[in-house]
Amino acid sequence: MRFTIEEVTIPERGDSELFSAVQEVANVLEAEVWRNDDFALTPAMVLPDYLDQRFQRRVLLAARIGDRVVGRGWLGYGAEADATTASVNAGVLPDARRHGIGTALLEELERRAAAAGRHTVTTFTQHALADIPQDEPLLGASVGERVIPAGAESTRFVRARGYSLGQVERTNRCVLDEIRAELPNIVAATAERSGDEYDVVHWVDRTPDQLLPSLAVAREHMATDIPAADLEVDAEVWTPERIRSRERQLADAGDRALVVAAVHRSSGAVAGYSELVLTAGKQHAEQWDTLVLSAHRGHALGLWMKAANLLALAEHAPGRQRVYTWNADENAHMLRINDRLRFRIIGYSGEWQRTIPRRA
Ligand SMILES: CC(C)(COP(=O)(O)OP(=O)(O)OC[C@H]1O[C@@H](n2cnc3c(N)ncnc32)[C@H](O)[C@@H]1OP(=O)(O)O)[C@@H](O)C(=O)NCCC(=O)NCCS
Repeated sequence: MRFTIEEVTIPERGDSELFSAVQEVANVLEAEVWRNDDFALTPAMVLPDYLDQRFQRRVLLAARIGDRVVGRGWLGYGAEADATTASVNAGVLPDARRHGIGTALLEELERRAAAAGRHTVTTFTQHALADIPQDEPLLGASVGERVIPAGAESTRFVRARGYSLGQVERTNRCVLDEIRAELPNIVAATAERSGDEYDVVHWVDRTPDQLLPSLAVAREHMATDIPAADLEVDAEVWTPERIRSRERQLADAGDRALVVAAVHRSSGAVAGYSELVLTAGKQHAEQWDTLVLSAHRGHALGLWMKAANLLALAEHAPGRQRVYTWNADENAHMLRINDRLRFRIIGYSGEWQRTIPRRA
C-alpha cells in the first residue's frame, strides 16, 4: 500500500485542513482505548501548544493514503540545551494498520529526535482495564505491577521497534459526588495534621506574582523528583516567564486551571502544589501535577491540597463529575492519597524507552 509521511505545517491563525484531519485521527485513537470522547480535542485546543515552542519543541507528522489522513505522529522535547530525551507517539487508524505506516512514522520521529540531539526516546501504550486479559502474558517494569498485555498490538509494535518497558502508570478516575461529602472532613483533619506552618492558597489560571519564583522551583522538582522507575528523564528549567507562557497556552486552548499550593508561612515559598485542569467543553476534570517538595513531606500536605482542590472543583464546576489522574504504579504515597479520595483504576499505560544508536 502506498502512503506518504509529511510534516504538518502549524497554521499560525485558526485552523488548516491537515491540522484538523490529524487531530481527528488522534481523537479516534483515544476513543478506541477509552470508548468515550473525554480526551477528544478540537484543533483549536491543541494549537496553542504548537504555536509557542520557546520551552517545549513539537513536531507533528501526518501519514496519508491518497488524500486521506490515516495516521499521525508527534515528537516533543524540552528546549533545554543539555536535554537528551524526547517523547514520541505514532498512531494509525485501525483499517490502515499492518502496512508499515506506524513504523514509518516512528522512524521519522526518531530520526528527528536524534537530529535534535535527543537519543533517548520515550513512548507510551494505553490499555483500558477491560482490555487486559488475565490469562495471557503480562509485562512489568523493574518496579510496580505486571499489567501491560504482551499480546496487545501496541505492545507488539513498540517491542518490535526496540523499545523496552520503563514504567507502568495507572490511569485512575473518581466520581466527585462519591467523595464530595467527605472532603470538608479530610481538609480539616489534614490541615490540623500539618500544624500551623502552612497556608493553603487557591487560584484559578493565573499564579499570584509573589509565588511565581518558588512555583518555578517546585515545577523543576516535578520533572525529576517523581518516581521514574527505569526511565531516563531530563531536568527541566522553569522560570516565571515559562509559567506565564504555559498559563497562556491553557487559556488560549479554552482550558481553566484550578491550582492549590501549600505555602510555607515562615518563608512565603511554595512547599507543594496541585492542579486540576478543566478542559474546554468537557464534563470531567484532569488532575495534573501534584508535588510536595522533599523538605516538606510527611505533613499530610499532599492529601490536604488534593482534597481542598476537589472541594474547589465541586464549588466551581459541580457538573464535572469525573476526575482523572495518572500515577506511577510504584508511587505508593500518591496511590494511598488517591485511594483515600476514592480514585479507582480504569487502565494502565506502558511507558517505553529506546536509545537510538548514534551514527559513527
Ligand atoms: C501501534 C500502531 C501505531 C501500529 O501501526 P501499524 O501501521 O499497524 O504498524 P506497522 O504496520 O508498521 O507494524 C509494525 C510491526 O509492529 C508489530 N505489530 C503491529 N501490530 C501488530 C499486531 N496486531 N499483532 C502483532 N504484531 C503487530 C509487528 O511486528 C509489525 O510488523 P509486521 O506487520 O511486519 O509483522 C497502531 O496499532 C496504533 O495506532 N495503535 C494505537 C496507538 C499506539 O498504541 N501507538 C503506540 C505507541 S507509538
